[in-house]
Amino acid sequence: MQLSTKHLLGIRDLLPQDIQTILDTATQFKEVLQRPIKKVPSLRDVTIVNLFYENSTRTRISFELAEKRLSADTINFSSSGSSVSKGETLLDTVNNILSMKVDMVVMRHSASGAPHFLAKHIPAAIVNAGDGINEHPTQALLDAFSIREKLGTLEGSKIAIIGDIMHSRVALSNIYLLKKMGAEVMVAGPPTLIPKHMAEAFDVKVEYNLKKALEWCDVANVLRIQLERQNQVLFSSLREYNLAYGVKKSMLDNLNKEILIMHPGPINRGVELDSDVADSHHSLILQQVENGVAVRMAVLYLLAGRGES
Ligand code: CP
Repeated sequence: MQLSTKHLLGIRDLLPQDIQTILDTATQFKEVLQRPIKKVPSLRDVTIVNLFYENSTRTRISFELAEKRLSADTINFSSSGSSVSKGETLLDTVNNILSMKVDMVVMRHSASGAPHFLAKHIPAAIVNAGDGINEHPTQALLDAFSIREKLGTLEGSKIAIIGDIMHSRVALSNIYLLKKMGAEVMVAGPPTLIPKHMAEAFDVKVEYNLKKALEWCDVANVLRIQLERQNQVLFSSLREYNLAYGVKKSMLDNLNKEILIMHPGPINRGVELDSDVADSHHSLILQQVENGVAVRMAVLYLLAGRGES
């Protein structure tokens, strides 16, 4: 199968069939990753640059590992320590790297729309690894893969996205994906961290009471408070945030059902999620990270045109 798009800039641009194809291909790559030799020659002739203008632990390592498992040649670029500090523009930086015969660009940038800008100006395929407060498509895909693996289907499943919805590219990509695949979606958190008109704009439920959100959902995807993106005081203190919106083990124990807890990382332990929840049997957090490699292998493989036609 081929994707309908040359780039992966966001989930908003994908067709449900594209998402299905990526998740199904990732299932095959997850099987490869269980083998003693976890490597296939699929992208042996492809060179990929990982261009990170913003900090990352999981996404950067996951892409690099996915590329190595596919036998691609990889180059890692961080803006810190580069000629960006001498005033070189994003476009000049990328064109210089591409002149060394690079085929694909994986890019994280703090500016929303940076990968879309590049896609208009360069011939290489671009994968958005998170752009500002816009989208983080591979995070949503690995979240969906993890939910599908546990629940068997996305269709009809009830997913609550909890916390700092306002500043979260993970929330937006998850909402686009889950709605396209027939899931029911709720956003929950303090009113100051949920944009107005979410319900009408995205056809999602909005809930300001954490207990009610947990009672409703099958899966709670808990988000980090993104202090680095907040330029005004949106809640009184981290301690008070934890008291009102931190997910605690006692809350899960008092539900009359089992729910799954997800988090894209990095976790602020004791703020949005208590440690005895993050490390409990409810938690899918490390399985999300594990699944990220297979999902990113699928994305790179399909964008390189290696899917069956
Ligand atoms: N989930 C995620 O994007 O984590 P990193 O910022 O560590 O890549």
